[in-house]
Amino acid sequence: MASLTIRRLDDDLKQRLRLRAARNGRSMEDEVRTILRGAAGGKDVRGPAPQLVTEPRARAVAAEPRPDIPRILLIIGGGIAAYKSLDLIRRLKERGAAVRCILTAAAQEFITPLSAGALSGERAFTDLFDAQSEFDIGHIRLARETDLVVVAPATADLMAKMAGGHADDLASAVLLATDRPVLIAPAMNPHMWNHPATRRNLAQLAADGIAQVGPNEGEMAEAGEAGQGRMAEPLEIVAAVESLLGSAGDRPLAGRRVVVTSGPTHEPIDPVRYIANRSSGKQGHAIAAAAAAAGAEVILVSGPVDIPDPAGVTTIKVETAREMLHAVEEAMPADCAIFAAAVADWRVSAPGREKIKKGKDKVPVLSLTENPDILASIAQRKAKRPQLVIGFAAETEDLIANARAKLARKGSDWIVANDVSPATGIMGGDRNRVHLVTAAGVESWPPQSKDEVARALVTRIAAALQGGSQWTGSKSA
Ligand code: C5P
Repeated sequence: MASLTIRRLDDDLKQRLRLRAARNGRSMEDEVRTILRGAAGGKDVRGPAPQLVTEPRARAVAAEPRPDIPRILLIIGGGIAAYKSLDLIRRLKERGAAVRCILTAAAQEFITPLSAGALSGERAFTDLFDAQSEFDIGHIRLARETDLVVVAPATADLMAKMAGGHADDLASAVLLATDRPVLIAPAMNPHMWNHPATRRNLAQLAADGIAQVGPNEGEMAEAGEAGQGRMAEPLEIVAAVESLLGSAGDRPLAGRRVVVTSGPTHEPIDPVRYIANRSSGKQGHAIAAAAAAAGAEVILVSGPVDIPDPAGVTTIKVETAREMLHAVEEAMPADCAIFAAAVADWRVSAPGREKIKKGKDKVPVLSLTENPDILASIAQRKAKRPQLVIGFAAETEDLIANARAKLARKGSDWIVANDVSPATGIMGGDRNRVHLVTAAGVESWPPQSKDEVARALVTRIAAALQGGSQWTGSKSA
């Protein structure tokens, strides 16, 4: 409605409205709303004194994104707990985070964009279509220019929209468009919380990789109501944010770009059959997730796997080795490339266009061609070679000797060697025992979960990229 009104204004009026909106730190649409509200209620329509909001807005415009400052997009839903979100903004800012807010229409019944904007130091966003506003940055940029999306309070309605993939307002469109980790802090009446529909939505959100904090048990805002449904306290939400993001010191890969390959490749024999291997992708995906948690921009190139895409990572799905090579080349340049995929060594030279028929006395003979070696081709690049190139060696015998030979043959800086003999249960399992083979020597790590291996590897990568580490080996030193 408001944007229609703006479009019909003459240019002079539009210009004056734009200046006025800019002075007040609002979108033109919000400015029109304020004027209309004032006119309807007979209040002063001049709006608040300009310095109230222009100062923080000016700071926001001037501020350049800094890799060492975590950026949080706080989506405030419409519930009485929204007032606690104002405190949450303060708590996050106290800890050095940059906070940007989106208020749903319902949230604006409880708190104002002005208060959220004043506390966050940046204009709060409210509208999906704000084409007339010079400050509109669009839902895609809002969705991407953040390290973590926090939904607090996450109302039953907002959770249902998220679970259903709706995108009919700014908050839901951003939640659908984002590839960053999402944390929800649900808040609702205990009956709504326990309703089968909310249970279903919650299960769906968990399956989609969305993290949750609260709700807590206690008194509700409604008189006489008690039970589970109170939004977690701001400091509890901050703790959940910190554990998802890590503090600035825990983000040693901030500003780095990391490419990871993971999973098997499928090499077609004909349209229905393929050559594959038993790789689950668990180790590669865990490395991608750990690198993202350490603040890196991560591109995960994954073969066909049955595990979910890690949160906060751009996942590119491929089938064959040649597709994987192409996707990795497209993802360059990178500071570090980790090749954890179990790439098929061979492909069928001439896959059947149609399903190969079973002949009576005829067993087809498959002629094989060697696949490109993705690790070697990136490690041996003359131009734009990643500073650190890491390969994996999955062996069933002579593990260390084979890994050493691979380090030299492929030209990688490190090889992470693991014994994949069936007795170890490593292939497809949740635990791993690895040996880090570099030009400097061999380091055997204790058996640990694949997540722990991933975190330990990421710590070593961060140290190596910062320089001065013996572990970068000769090539990248
Ligand atoms: O030669 P091998 O397959 O044992 O080497 C394993 C390492 O090389 C792994 O890091 C794997 O991801 C990578 N590799 C590759 N492209 C291939 C074969 C292996 O990137 N075609």
